[in-house]
Amino acid sequence: MEKETGQDALKVSRRSFLGWAAGLMGAAIAAILGGSGFGYFISPAFKKREEDWVNLGRVDQIRLGVPTKAEFTVRKRDAWMTTERRSSAWILTSNGKDFTVFDPKCTHLGCPYRWDEATKKFLCPCHAAVFDVDGSVVKGPPPRPLDRYPVKVSSGRILILPLNEQRKT
Ligand code: FES
Repeated sequence: MEKETGQDALKVSRRSFLGWAAGLMGAAIAAILGGSGFGYFISPAFKKREEDWVNLGRVDQIRLGVPTKAEFTVRKRDAWMTTERRSSAWILTSNGKDFTVFDPKCTHLGCPYRWDEATKKFLCPCHAAVFDVDGSVVKGPPPRPLDRYPVKVSSGRILILPLNEQRKT
């Protein structure tokens, strides 16, 4: 049996080092490519796309301090099908710059409520719930205040992000 010389041992360790280095580089490349590929496929699920925002109209059409009802259409594109759903929202502003937009369904069982100018409250006819102008529960069975749409103002228009259907039930 031949005895391993110092030079052979050096060759083996150099070879194993190169093997390790190649393996590490391969893993790094796979992580980078895999990570960006994964991110590419998964990011739309988390991104609020610009086209998801719905235009409710011009800011100067909303009276100060009085909830205003706005109707809108949500278009949802799913593969090759586009579906449309009509909905509405209650818009409130005290200064014409900052807006609160409420989902139109009562947070108890989803009945549509209305604004009552005489009492300055939102009234739900189904189980006699009463909400304050800020959406908080004044009276009745609703477990939480009125749901709010995410809202922003862009180019003088009020834009909302329609709520996820599961969240509303
Ligand atoms: S659904 Fe509004 S109070 Fe019950």
